[in-house]
Amino acid sequence: MLNKLQVVVVLAGSLAVAGAASAQTPAQVEKGMQVYAAQKCSICHAIAGKGNAKGPLDGVGTKLSADEIHQWIVDAPGMTAKTKAPRKPVMKAYASLSKEDMAALVAYLQSLKK
Ligand code: HEC
Repeated sequence: MLNKLQVVVVLAGSLAVAGAASAQTPAQVEKGMQVYAAQKCSICHAIAGKGNAKGPLDGVGTKLSADEIHQWIVDAPGMTAKTKAPRKPVMKAYASLSKEDMAALVAYLQSLKK
């Protein structure tokens, strides 16, 4: 049987783990920048005035959750339908990125706060 104190310790422990997993480290953000460049996202998007001005991503970290950003990257057609985004050409899904590249890219976009 767990006593109250043990429950608190277990909960605090899992919160710490969840926090660490979602926190963006500077190294991850840096790597995400490189993934963004390598995937040529700037053909359709702009960050800090660089790229396609029709699709600014400045502030996307405030507008969307990490989960929503992740969904855009892995399932752009689904998100295009869901949000009724009218801009053409539509975004394709980037489902073949490695888990690390994906996490880094999401961390980078998450860091773009207004
Ligand atoms: C062929 C053009 C194209 C490319 C390349 C592209 N996107 Fe998109 N993306 C779009 C369009 C169109 C939308 C719909 C919203 C809009 O009009 O900006 C969108 C939406 C998004 C959104 C949601 C933005 C919001 O404000 O809701 C994110 C995040 C995103 N793209 C990230 C990326 C990333 C990261 C890459 C590179 C891996 C990428 N996109 C490559 C066309 C593109």
